[in-house]
Amino acid sequence: MNVDYSEFFRVFAQVSKAIHSGENTTEILEHIVKNIRALLGAKGCIFWIVDHGRRKIETMVSDGFPYRNLADVNYQELTRIFNPDGGPFIFIADARTDHRIPEIDTIGKKSVGSISGMPLDIVGNHSGILAVYFYAYRELSERDREIITALGEQGAIALHKALSYDEKMLQNLRQVVEVLALAIEAKDETTHGHSVRVARFATMIAHQLGLPESEVETIHHGGLLHDIGKIGMNDDLLERLGILSRREMDIVRQHPVIGAKIVSPLRFLDDVVPLIRHHHERFDGSGYPDGLKGDDIPLGARILTVCDAFETMLAGRTHFARMKLEDAVVNLQQGAGHQFDQAVVAALFAALMEHPEQFPERLNGSDLACLKRYQEKLAASRPRVAQLFI
Ligand SMILES: [Fe+2]
Ligand SMILES: [Fe+2]
Repeated sequence: MNVDYSEFFRVFAQVSKAIHSGENTTEILEHIVKNIRALLGAKGCIFWIVDHGRRKIETMVSDGFPYRNLADVNYQELTRIFNPDGGPFIFIADARTDHRIPEIDTIGKKSVGSISGMPLDIVGNHSGILAVYFYAYRELSERDREIITALGEQGAIALHKALSYDEKMLQNLRQVVEVLALAIEAKDETTHGHSVRVARFATMIAHQLGLPESEVETIHHGGLLHDIGKIGMNDDLLERLGILSRREMDIVRQHPVIGAKIVSPLRFLDDVVPLIRHHHERFDGSGYPDGLKGDDIPLGARILTVCDAFETMLAGRTHFARMKLEDAVVNLQQGAGHQFDQAVVAALFAALMEHPEQFPERLNGSDLACLKRYQEKLAASRPRVAQLFI
């Protein structure tokens, strides 16, 4: 099939103009997929936007396919089919027989011949995947590839512009909320600095566990905001924590739910909401507010639970004196598998041993020896999964 080059340049110029004048990104992508399809005489064309940090498909824009055919393709399937390690272009000669295409009819397998696709870098963890579907066997010529690459790259540029801007705005908004949370906490003498230190320990653990940067950031925000639900609570109640009546205790126990409600309208903190809600769950299911158990508790919340307890023990409260590091470490080790996720406690011990300089008051030789001793005890205890099903 001969491509109409004058038509291609017309489309290319239109898209460039739209990008420079800051037009709506979705509309630009719609224009791109519609024109690639028309220029190549294809059955359909799709542009997916993928977030590799969260391992999910963020959105897709398509032309020539009913949406329902595509709705079920998940992140794993998509990135397996269009694996960027396979070269700049992916070619599937016959989708009906190719092992990479799932049996299910989610991508219109029965009615598709050849598929060509290319991954596109956008910004940070985001990348694009552009795919063109043909009715029958069709290998892309050099010219076809030029068209797809040129228009696909334009789509990536439009997205880069939009996402970089979004990311900057989101960062500003998150900072505003953090400052607010810290200002509120600063009013309270007893807990001043608690959230900052919880956030610091939580970040150390997240790094130790090798979590992706986006999750580390979410957990850091979770640390800063985990007790935001205490905002509206009576100062007298908070000062008497540990010596409260049952009724008063019930009120204080509302703070994870209240905190999640405060933060949930802020879309840019979506991932932080479950961490706030579940930071008082216990690994054995005896915590609150939902009594979640084991891995049903989001990992970020399991990390915050450990850091919250550790920081509170080290800082002390009005009703109990601050503990020595060794006592706090013993408590964490004994609570592993019951109150705490054993893997998280182990990661905290390892992080402190590997980076003693990050601990607020520098760890000395006997602190490190103590951490090593209890790390070995932890490793010798039963696997955490077994504890769950007793
Ligand atoms: Fe809390
Ligand atoms: Fe806390």
